[in-house]
Amino acid sequence: MHATLLLSLASLVATASAQVALYQQCGGKNWSGSTTCVSGATCQVLNEYYSQCLAGSNGATTVTSSAVVTIGSTSQPPTPTVTPTGTGTNTAPQSTNSSAGKQIRTNQTPVYHLYLQNIGGKPRLGPEATSGYFVYGTTVGLVMADGSKLYLNVDMSVSTSYKPISFGTTATTTNWGLSGDTFRVGNTQNLLVCPVSGSSAYDIYLQTGSEMLSSSCTNYITMHLPCLC
Ligand SMILES: *[C@@H]1O[C@H](CO)[C@@H](O)[C@H](O)[C@H]1NC(C)=O
Ligand SMILES: *[C@@H]1O[C@H](CO)[C@@H](O)[C@H](O)[C@H]1NC(C)=O
Repeated sequence: MHATLLLSLASLVATASAQVALYQQCGGKNWSGSTTCVSGATCQVLNEYYSQCLAGSNGATTVTSSAVVTIGSTSQPPTPTVTPTGTGTNTAPQSTNSSAGKQIRTNQTPVYHLYLQNIGGKPRLGPEATSGYFVYGTTVGLVMADGSKLYLNVDMSVSTSYKPISFGTTATTTNWGLSGDTFRVGNTQNLLVCPVSGSSAYDIYLQTGSEMLSSSCTNYITMHLPCLC
């Protein structure tokens, strides 16, 4: 066996006992750190390059709509239950084929050049290295590695001005569009973005007014194609 391979195998063994905290990376292409999550969490593949420790065991029910997301010291109410069954987590990883679709990114502080992708079964903003690729028209679909799509659906039924956006295997929001390079739903292009606790990712909400979910959130962010090409 090649010496460097032996070395990296040895370092894998050496670090195997270190436990990875919730929402931290535990795997992916080139990951050489620990793949063992803390008790109560399992290492779940989000895409080819990134696996993350998520609460519970593997399976579509892992990221449940009743999970309480703690942002700062404020406990947030459960995310509305719009996520159709079986779409809470990705069973197939998202595609890493840049020819399969376009990237979607944000251009403003604090989410300057973060890219939309599947993180923990939700459409979230994260690093370019793990960006998703999307096909878009009146629907917006994340392309999965098996060619299937997870559509961006907005729950307009909630009473707050910020409306949660989740993935669905069928598109229930069919009035997506573009103004120039800016995504909109109907005439609304503003988003509220909120940091996901214990992670560098951000949750996204369609913002139809000005209400804030938490003081750590930022209003009036827009999502763009990196270029009109
Ligand atoms: C993974 O490692 C290979 C070989 O060293 C390298 O070519 C590739 O760019 C790395 N990929 C990532 C995502 O770091
Ligand atoms: C990437 O996607 C394009 C467009 O769908 C397809 O033609 C091509 O075969 C794909 N490449 C790979 C390596 O899957």
